Amino acid sequence: MTTTSARSRPTLPAGSQPRAAIAEKTLRSDRWWVSPLIMAAILLFFVVYATVRIFMNKWYFVEDFTYLTPIYSPCIFDMCVPGSSHFGTIPWSPPVFIPLSAITFAGVGGFRVTCYYYRKAYYRSLWFSPQACAVREPHKKYTGETRFPLIANNYHRYFFYAAAVLLVINLYDAFFAFHGKDGGFGIGLGSIIIWINVAMLAGYTVSCHACRHVVGGRLKHFSKHPLRYRLWTIVSKLNGKHGTFAMASLVTVITTDFYIMALSAGWFSDLRILN
Ligand code: FES
Repeated sequence: MTTTSARSRPTLPAGSQPRAAIAEKTLRSDRWWVSPLIMAAILLFFVVYATVRIFMNKWYFVEDFTYLTPIYSPCIFDMCVPGSSHFGTIPWSPPVFIPLSAITFAGVGGFRVTCYYYRKAYYRSLWFSPQACAVREPHKKYTGETRFPLIANNYHRYFFYAAAVLLVINLYDAFFAFHGKDGGFGIGLGSIIIWINVAMLAGYTVSCHACRHVVGGRLKHFSKHPLRYRLWTIVSKLNGKHGTFAMASLVTVITTDFYIMALSAGWFSDLRILN
């Protein structure tokens, strides 16, 4: 006979439930810290790389082949390099302390930081709450996502909308990457890198939990919404690979940006396949 069931347990608000206290530093004997340590190194590398690139304000566009790095897209200010503004410019430029890519970074950075997959990653590897099962937490108090700054994670769905718009912009940019040196159609290694990146970004954005809710949430009967059910089935399948898309797209964004920076700075030339 069950004396204590889940149903009879009181439901406490998030953040008020005590976490299991461990007197020892850890009860684990395995090398549990290896995985969070690797993840911390990857995340910190990306943060440092993105910060440096954002404040560079240069080497983001290759005029010959109209390659534009996703980190600076869309470039909509007067001071953008000529040709890099695929959507035109507004007659204003930000003050020097605001980088050209500030708007893009706010959308993309917010989307990644509030992502369920990255939350798991940085809660374990950087925030240390929790680090791992049976490992003592350095935090004295657990407030979950009820206080600043983690409360911002509850706004993930809005960052998803911003990311979806940026994805369409990246897709549009990718068509410009088929620009040959003589002005016609052309393909280079840069075009391929840009398209692989767009594919990974699409996989990451579409497999988002918020996207899954947008296409299939708040429905009482799937049978009355066959199209949404079909979409929900596809997104659900992709959702199972969300972590893979999250890391793969991180790598492809850095690779694309670095390649375009190198071409723009003249460190090497694009490998041309056609024109
Ligand atoms: S982007 Fe990861 S859950 Fe939405």
